[in-house]
Amino acid sequence: MNLLRARSAVSPLRRRFPAIPAPLPAERPLPAVADLVARERPEEPMHCLRPAAVTTAARTFIEGFPGAVLYAVKCNPEPPMLRALAAGGISHFDCASKSEIALARQMFPSAEIHFMHPVKARGAIREAWARHGVRDFAFDSAAELAKIRAETAATGVSAPLGLILRIALPKGRAALDLSGKFGAPPAEASALLRAARPHAARLGISFHVGSQCLDPMAWRSALAVAAAVIATASVAVEIIDVGGGFPVSYPGMEPPPLGAYFAEIETGFERLGLPGACLWAEPGRALVAAGGSVVVQIQHRRGGALYINDGTFGSLADAGSLGFRYPVRLIRPQGAPPSAEEIGFTFFGPTCDSADTMAGPFFLPADAAEGDWVEIGQLGAYGSALRTGFNGFDRAHLVEVGDAPLSERRPAAARLAA
Ligand SMILES: Cc1ncc(COP(=O)(O)O)c(C=O)c1O
Repeated sequence: MNLLRARSAVSPLRRRFPAIPAPLPAERPLPAVADLVARERPEEPMHCLRPAAVTTAARTFIEGFPGAVLYAVKCNPEPPMLRALAAGGISHFDCASKSEIALARQMFPSAEIHFMHPVKARGAIREAWARHGVRDFAFDSAAELAKIRAETAATGVSAPLGLILRIALPKGRAALDLSGKFGAPPAEASALLRAARPHAARLGISFHVGSQCLDPMAWRSALAVAAAVIATASVAVEIIDVGGGFPVSYPGMEPPPLGAYFAEIETGFERLGLPGACLWAEPGRALVAAGGSVVVQIQHRRGGALYINDGTFGSLADAGSLGFRYPVRLIRPQGAPPSAEEIGFTFFGPTCDSADTMAGPFFLPADAAEGDWVEIGQLGAYGSALRTGFNGFDRAHLVEVGDAPLSERRPAAARLAA
């Protein structure tokens, strides 16, 4: 398996000494998923990265968004993914931990890294500030503001400090609600903004409307909350960070075009009337979802249920808890062509836990059987990044492929010549 890189856990952040794989030679054309399956016959999940799709998504977002675009590293921290994003113009990284920061800094020495987790370990603040040159820090409480000030000062490194207040939003209608855990409530936000002002070389407000948010108007409402906080605080603000949440299409979930979100944000930002202020966004999913898929093997079939070698403790967490559906196609390199008739299947993952169930339905040829492979698309976001080693199912391969993204409109069955 010369193109497959075996590892015991997919995320480089789990390895004690992260080794960053060298880029593949640019002149070598990337293989097709189906050819790789025919040749390697993988019995472990095979994660397929489509660098061209990621580079295009990054470029499109940067061209359309009226401000700076920070990639949310948590969404998929694989080095080849970060490299593909950088090729599309990404040079700012929203990081949430010191491991993410170290990885981004190791790969991109001149990148701008922003520490956007509102609750941080003291040592992580010191390391980010003194060792990795991180200058922007999020906070949502007086205690965190004091922590950031104390720990940056304790390093003895003097530099301009960026402070970004994360404000709370009411529960919205995003597929993944993020309200409730982080964010200063409106009653406290203005006082916090005022308290931070004397210590900030640049002061900002951030929010997150929730992940996979289908409604562009959510940003209008959030910007109105930011406007009220700024008006009450009556201090200058240099950064408005509209967070992530930009959606992609999954079967049964078709968002409006990205331009509708950008237009809403631009109008809302202009309405704030903050001369000289910058606009930021922290997209994750919208940049990388289409650029990743996983190829799983069917190990058993029971009626309309397929037992596969990846599941909710692996890269299909959101197919379980959130009931997400993904575009799928059957890959059967040898034998009879798959049936033209399709039916909706449920998936069971490999662990012994009954929570390892994905209701779907996932539409595949009616004769899908043990030994066939299934490629599951739109999994570049929150797929491999969420894997665990539960039950010993911690092995996977990562490959770079030349295929176009698996669209939900694509015919489900694909048969390769033997
Ligand atoms: C602070 C922050 N920024 C950005 C993101 C990326 O969000 P999304 O992938 O929905 O764009 C997240 C996701 O949880 C987040 O917590």
